[in-house]
Amino acid sequence: MTATDAKAGSASQVPGITGGTGGAGSDKTKASRPTIFVKELSRRARKRLLRHFLALSSGDRLLRFGSVLSDDLVSRYVENIDFTRDTVFGVYDRKLRLLGVGHLAFAPREALPSVSASTTKERVAEFGVSVAASARGLGVGTHLFERAAIRCRNVDIDTLYMHCLSSNKVMMHIAKKAGMAIHRDYGEADAYLKLPPANPASVLQEAVQEQVATLDYTIKANLRAALKWLGNLPGIKRD
Ligand SMILES: CC(C)(COP(=O)(O)OP(=O)(O)OC[C@H]1O[C@@H](n2cnc3c(N)ncnc32)[C@H](O)[C@@H]1OP(=O)(O)O)[C@@H](O)C(=O)NCCC(=O)NCCS
Repeated sequence: MTATDAKAGSASQVPGITGGTGGAGSDKTKASRPTIFVKELSRRARKRLLRHFLALSSGDRLLRFGSVLSDDLVSRYVENIDFTRDTVFGVYDRKLRLLGVGHLAFAPREALPSVSASTTKERVAEFGVSVAASARGLGVGTHLFERAAIRCRNVDIDTLYMHCLSSNKVMMHIAKKAGMAIHRDYGEADAYLKLPPANPASVLQEAVQEQVATLDYTIKANLRAALKWLGNLPGIKRD
């Protein structure tokens, strides 16, 4: 993953992420970034999740999973996501393809000995994230991370953990920006974020974000259905 890769996406190139003014080649200031809706995914999204992960290059799979997973292992990973225990967030484009996915896995604190001493809560959360190469540098990864942090607060978890390669400059940047404490060891990095408890504002913030993302998804789905229907009418050509 190079800085050029990360800077390569632009709102105008990513269908369904709109509102940014930064076009290809322009300087993408934060103000010009598009609006991003983060939606909680259900098991019905497995097919789209698989498509998202299979499209990641081997370099990205290494960064995301810690090893270059084969297509077979990626499929198994998607098949095994436990939606009753974990939470998966996604950002959709206009065609309802997943541009970004954040997997928040919950585990008993004993399962992560490196963090168990720093919390009295029963569970801790581990976060993994990936963004399609075409949508990077637009804030999708940051939004997924922020949403995961709010979820943790609202389900009484005060420690959010991330494991990544210390060479992963983009992820390290996002982690530092979020105020994570980072511990580097032999080319790997463990990052922890201590979270404040939930309050009415954090609960409301998450509820509003989810409602807006659901509305956005519904509009996109209806538009797609309408276009499909129109495309099936005699004499109307689909693009
Ligand atoms: C890491 C990843 C999720 C980031 O997604 P993204 O949507 O591009 O991230 P964002 O746009 O929210 O933020 C990128 C930030 O990194 C910064 N950045 C880009 N290249 C950088 C570099 N070489 N060094 C430091 N920071 C860099 C950007 O300026 C931006 O910071 P800002 O918001 O303060 O301006 C994405 O690159 C990815 O999927 N990588 C492969 C998988 C992976 O590494 N997953 C993480 C392991 S769990």
